[in-house]
Amino acid sequence: MKIGILKERRAHEKRCAATPETVKKYIGLGAEVVVEAGAGVAASISDAAFEAAGARIAADAAATVAGADVILKVQRPMTAAEGADELAQLPKGTTLIAILNPHGAKEQVASYAAAGIDAMAMELVPRISRAQSMDVLSSQANLAGYKAVIDAAAEFNRAFPMMMTAAGTVAPARVLVMGAGVAGLQAIATARRLGAIVSATDVRPASKEQVKSLGATFVAVEDDEFKQAETTAGYAKPMSEAYQAKQAALIAENIQKQDIVITTALIPGRKAPVLVTEEMVKSMKPGSVIVDLAVEQGGNCPLSELGKVVEKHGVKLVGHANVPSRLSADSTALYAKNLLNFVTLLIDKETKQLKINWEDEIVKGVALTKGGQVIHPNFQG
Ligand code: NAI
Repeated sequence: MKIGILKERRAHEKRCAATPETVKKYIGLGAEVVVEAGAGVAASISDAAFEAAGARIAADAAATVAGADVILKVQRPMTAAEGADELAQLPKGTTLIAILNPHGAKEQVASYAAAGIDAMAMELVPRISRAQSMDVLSSQANLAGYKAVIDAAAEFNRAFPMMMTAAGTVAPARVLVMGAGVAGLQAIATARRLGAIVSATDVRPASKEQVKSLGATFVAVEDDEFKQAETTAGYAKPMSEAYQAKQAALIAENIQKQDIVITTALIPGRKAPVLVTEEMVKSMKPGSVIVDLAVEQGGNCPLSELGKVVEKHGVKLVGHANVPSRLSADSTALYAKNLLNFVTLLIDKETKQLKINWEDEIVKGVALTKGGQVIHPNFQG
């Protein structure tokens, strides 16, 4: 069984789908691993380190994927319209495993089927305990939450902790985290470690205790709709207009007192909810910083711009693209481990060949296409 690891070609992508550690494990499972030259360089992994782990280095993408049973990537393959036709290079019958963004790139799902590629989207791993070690959304969001606070601190022209000095007292920074999921909880913990006074908001009741246990204050409209805002999959539901209006009034009142706002609110498969309006930005103190982690899904603040740090109404808006990739060594290590845990499920221990159980709940969750057909119910038609 051959596993190919391609170099990522999209802008802002520094991660890699494997590490020397996971390569060793794949070889232990009986696989042959081929890594495209330079695939790990942006994550501080040299070709020599992959070779030392037992991988063969291929000079280009074509040689990496030739005869591969499984191809591991970070992001979905680029199309001809996007610059380089990575999809056309993939051999028919191969299993492609990556963060394929099927909600954002629906049309590409049909093209996997047309190309005879069995495509599996890692962000669709169900949130069941058996799959926790494969949950790429959690592993990457955790790092993004940390980095958002570090990015905010770098743009902020004041200190985070309170400092009592002979020349006077420096007040602690006030940080509001909007969306207390995986990224938000890590942002709260990081801001607290830096000495800020932290508050947080969410629509899922389960988040309240988690926020409080990290030493932050919970701010939310806790009405009947709030009590039912969590789906069985653990995600937030889209909230009604009436709820959004109440929430906006509460946030408008609180946001004026904040120095830093970190927004992380997402609804799977939809545009991110707008939580910080232009009016709210105007009400903030000059020099305040907003980090919009939802900027790639349309943003929680309409003033943030993808891939840029901009200043509007005296407030800095940080909209970095692909924040996990800004910590490429760690995000690669965790993502590669998520993939290893998933791929292990697909390999027969006896024959050391690929043996996919298409009825397995995890496989059913991620499988988009099989044998030339779109099989995922959410992406058919
Ligand atoms: P996410 O990335 O989809 O969303 C981020 C946060 O934004 C969520 O907490 C969500 O409730 C919040 N949000 C959405 N709309 C909002 C609005 N209008 N106003 C304020 N907040 C809003 O969520 P994430 O971080 O991927 O996970 C959410 C939860 O799922 C976790 O906190 C955890 O409880 C659960 N989970 C369970 C796992 C498992 O394996 N059992 C693994 C990972 C997470």
